[in-house]
Amino acid sequence: MFTKCLAYAASFTAFITAVAAQKPLMPSSPSWSPEFVNSFLDVTPEEQLPDLEDFYDHYVRSTGSKYKSNGTAWFNMLANRLNPRNPVEQLVLQLRKFVDPDEIFLGIDWFVQARQDSSPKEYHIDTDTTLLNKHDLRICPDTSSIYYITGGAGPTVIFNQTFNEFGLTPRIPQQVAIAWPTSNKLVAFQGDLYHGVLRHPKPKGKIPLRKTLIINWWKERRPLEAQDLDPTYFREVEYRQPIDPSTKSAEDIKKISYDSPFDSYLDDWLHQSIPLRGERLPTSGLQILTFAESGMQLDPHQVIPSWALWVKQSSGEEEEQQKTPKRKKKKAKKMAEEF
Ligand SMILES: *[C@@H]1O[C@H](CO)[C@@H](O)[C@H](O)[C@H]1NC(C)=O
Ligand SMILES: *[C@@H]1O[C@H](CO)[C@@H](O)[C@H](O)[C@H]1NC(C)=O
Repeated sequence: MFTKCLAYAASFTAFITAVAAQKPLMPSSPSWSPEFVNSFLDVTPEEQLPDLEDFYDHYVRSTGSKYKSNGTAWFNMLANRLNPRNPVEQLVLQLRKFVDPDEIFLGIDWFVQARQDSSPKEYHIDTDTTLLNKHDLRICPDTSSIYYITGGAGPTVIFNQTFNEFGLTPRIPQQVAIAWPTSNKLVAFQGDLYHGVLRHPKPKGKIPLRKTLIINWWKERRPLEAQDLDPTYFREVEYRQPIDPSTKSAEDIKKISYDSPFDSYLDDWLHQSIPLRGERLPTSGLQILTFAESGMQLDPHQVIPSWALWVKQSSGEEEEQQKTPKRKKKKAKKMAEEF
């Protein structure tokens, strides 16, 4: 796993020439918390869930790992405000008001992640991967969101860290959000934040397959990566009214303070584990962990893409990497494609 994290870190070399995207702001509405992440329960009518899960399972089975080479699926919401073409698009139309009460999105691109607890999604920033690979330019969605099809698996982790031309900023996060999967729950956050998935800290028996839909919201542009949906994924669905978000408040946030800084738990973070095996955390809901200020001294103008890469550099592996720039580049490209 350690190697996997490090390989991931290498992908951040693309940051060096990347232009930092404008930091998007979360929309504000009374039902939203003022934090960098929000979550909502029971966001779509329950009677729709069986169809949605059937479609999801079919999509996962038929695309398998191929979906990556086919990019993500584009849905133009402006043009299809009342015309969903399958249960996922139906869901998206119902979620838009939760994500932004003003609904000023051009569209979304979506893809699926169905994973075992033993291979949690690596830390990353959502990006138009094709644009990154072709033009070395990193553009993030306005808002990122995750919809949980199933519950009971490891949580999503969102670091309150965005990026600039030198790498993640701030260098070491002080606030970290932990969102636990529950069926029919939506988690939304600023589209330029570093995030990923953690292992379940207290596995009781077998952890269920973690099934999520990743929905990225774009206000002005369609990402190059987003493809038109193959018509074999069109279904007959009737537009159904969304649940009114003003009748639902954002999920309560439990705040937990740590006396030590984030970097005193680097081994845990690199292993995609919650510090102290999550012993202080309930395994449901939404939590924000606040860490003490870090004493790490880093030159703000030195390129250090992420704390994961910093660990690697300080353990002397950088030299070896410099000897094999080709391999490094290939690895970086491979990892970038995984976003
Ligand atoms: C997240 O980080 C930003 C920038 O460092 C900071 O202004 C903001 O207060 C942080 N959010 C929370 C909820 O602490
Ligand atoms: C992937 O793209 C190819 C060609 O563009 C298409 O034939 C195929 O059906 C697509 N596969 C999926 C699963 O969308």
